[in-house]
Amino acid sequence: MDARAILQKKRDGGALTREESEWFLRGYVAGEIPDYFASALLALVFVRGMEPQELAHWTRAMLDSGEKLAFPRVALPKVDKHSTGGIGDKVSIPLAPALAACGVAVPMISGRGLGHTGGTLDKLESIPGFRTQLSSAEFARCLENTGVALGGQTPELVPADRKLYALRDVTGLIESIPLIASSILSKKLAEGIDALVLDVKFGSGAFMVERERGAELARTMIRLAESMGVRTSAFQTCMSRPLGRKAGNAVEIEESFDCLAGGGPAELRELVCLQGGELLALTGREPDLEAGKRRIARSLDDGSARELFARVIAAQGGDPRCLDERERLPRARESAFVRSPADGVLAWRDLRALGLAITALGGGRRVLGDAIDPAVGLVFQVDEGARVTRGEPLVEVRHNGRGLDEALRRIEGSFELRAEHRPDPLILQRFGA
Ligand code: URA
Repeated sequence: MDARAILQKKRDGGALTREESEWFLRGYVAGEIPDYFASALLALVFVRGMEPQELAHWTRAMLDSGEKLAFPRVALPKVDKHSTGGIGDKVSIPLAPALAACGVAVPMISGRGLGHTGGTLDKLESIPGFRTQLSSAEFARCLENTGVALGGQTPELVPADRKLYALRDVTGLIESIPLIASSILSKKLAEGIDALVLDVKFGSGAFMVERERGAELARTMIRLAESMGVRTSAFQTCMSRPLGRKAGNAVEIEESFDCLAGGGPAELRELVCLQGGELLALTGREPDLEAGKRRIARSLDDGSARELFARVIAAQGGDPRCLDERERLPRARESAFVRSPADGVLAWRDLRALGLAITALGGGRRVLGDAIDPAVGLVFQVDEGARVTRGEPLVEVRHNGRGLDEALRRIEGSFELRAEHRPDPLILQRFGA
């Protein structure tokens, strides 16, 4: 085989075979095929797309480029979720222990924040001592001992994605449905899971703003994951307003703890119960989604999910006392408030600006490798659609002196006051069998 012939085939509308995908990705990961061939192929896939079978071969070849996790000592069904992310999306944090409290195991590999979205690993690391950079052996031990392991991608896991994603990032080739689907699913499939639920966001804070593109991504990922033996469904949910009342790192941990104590914002609890309930139904632990939702809700209300999370925190080196003693979490020194400039009904216009405000405060990354300040964040004072009066506080900005002017300017541009406004529904639709 040769790389030029593969490029020409894709250029002319052909579909890559399994052997071609395997050969190309093996050579690329080994450094034998240079970046310019890989970026040309990615650009051709971006323009031409991929047929379902071709995408399955490509994803399998990505998965096979590295080590796969296996947990022979864990007999329980293994599940995970993936969210396309957004502002205040902390669902994974209460969801993982709630699922484990309901009798499934959760080997969860998450990412870090970049640009306007936060990352689960950064949020977890705001718990004093909490370690997410676990070796494969440590990850397996946490899963065996608690039913949950919360880690980051290791160099051995799907190295093809690591290289391809970096290349897509610098060449403007992120927003392609087959490239996104293969990137996300190769990493999820490497966890050795039995079932997966996808949370595909729509709205101004979403990775894919347009609803129809999000729906297409959901359908593509379900077909692909199911063809590779993982029971999968998806929900398209709202990211045209922040999820919950808090966005940042330690502040999102606070809100996750509230959820694990049976409280917290209603929309956060609803998504935790929905996604958890779906996974319990997909694995046959509960007969259907409604029974699954009730089971998850019970684990939040009876303290079992919270107790399980205390064990996970301890197993990963963190201080579980912060579940009760919130002053142990990082807390910013100062607060400023964005106030309503007029009377009216609050409508979010540009959620991306809220994410960039958090980044300006130091709570997110502009480039990979930036250090983050876990304490800073935003606390929303009113719900979208609420009628507010001039001068009323809308957003508390918790800061440590850095980037405040930029953050305030971005927040001021992120909303408007209307005469009337009906917020989008939280849950738009479900996809799956
Ligand atoms: N997240 C990923 O892991 N990969 C993509 O391609 C996009 C989002």
